[in-house]
Amino acid sequence: MQSGLSSKPQTKLHVGIIMDGNGRWATRRRMSRLRGHEAGVEAIRRVVEAAPKQGLGTLTLYAFSSDNWRRPKAEVSALMSLLRFYLASEVESLVRNGVRLTVIGRRDRLPAGIADAIGRAEAATAGGDVLHLRIAVDYSARDAILNAALKAASAGQLTREAFSDLVTGEAGLRDVDLVIRTSGEKRLSDFMLWESAYAELHFTEKMWPDFREDDLAEALISFHGRERRFGGLQPEAMEPREEPALSA
Ligand code: FPP
Repeated sequence: MQSGLSSKPQTKLHVGIIMDGNGRWATRRRMSRLRGHEAGVEAIRRVVEAAPKQGLGTLTLYAFSSDNWRRPKAEVSALMSLLRFYLASEVESLVRNGVRLTVIGRRDRLPAGIADAIGRAEAATAGGDVLHLRIAVDYSARDAILNAALKAASAGQLTREAFSDLVTGEAGLRDVDLVIRTSGEKRLSDFMLWESAYAELHFTEKMWPDFREDDLAEALISFHGRERRFGGLQPEAMEPREEPALSA
């Protein structure tokens, strides 16, 4: 389990974003891929600022998947430096704006000092109650589910909710309402597979560095226009329930 456990029921939306397309954004502009990731950090700032105004209570951003270790060393190390920079430079504004930051994923394979920086940023922002920002780093949904299953095996019988807490590392984390993926790709790529069981999906051609407040608003308009039945039926399609027979 991570620090900052909360058992308050979360009524505001939980949106997950797969921030894709930094590399292509940069390459099309004849810039280095690193420049694309830097522009990606600016997009993160915009979206974090816009999120509470647009009804989000939780925002989970996919920053580095466990499969991203396969990228060239120089790019991995640039991404890690950006993360270090973000943690150091952003905490003050996160605190000011009531944003609680948690980082999900493995910490034991991160370069020296980053796990400590994460811990410091989480502690400094722990009181934030406007938005819960979760950044996924060295994250794999399959690993999260597998680790939860290993813990569950020794716990004996477990409710679905208790298993969920093991998967997410949080007590009572709201299921994901909407997953957004930028850059035209239409995959979940090992992102919150358990939490997204009933999530709506929104794919946009926009590259992540171009993603703005309006794009979040557009995704939410589309989300609010969907009919969410969670496996049931809309009330008007329900047969009147038969009353149980009264005994004489
Ligand atoms: C996908 O673009 C993006 C990533 C793998 C990383 C996302 C990282 C950031 C937005 C910046 C760093 C994050 C933090 C929190 C400091 P891609 O490189 O796969 O783009 P491509 O598909 O066009 O090559």
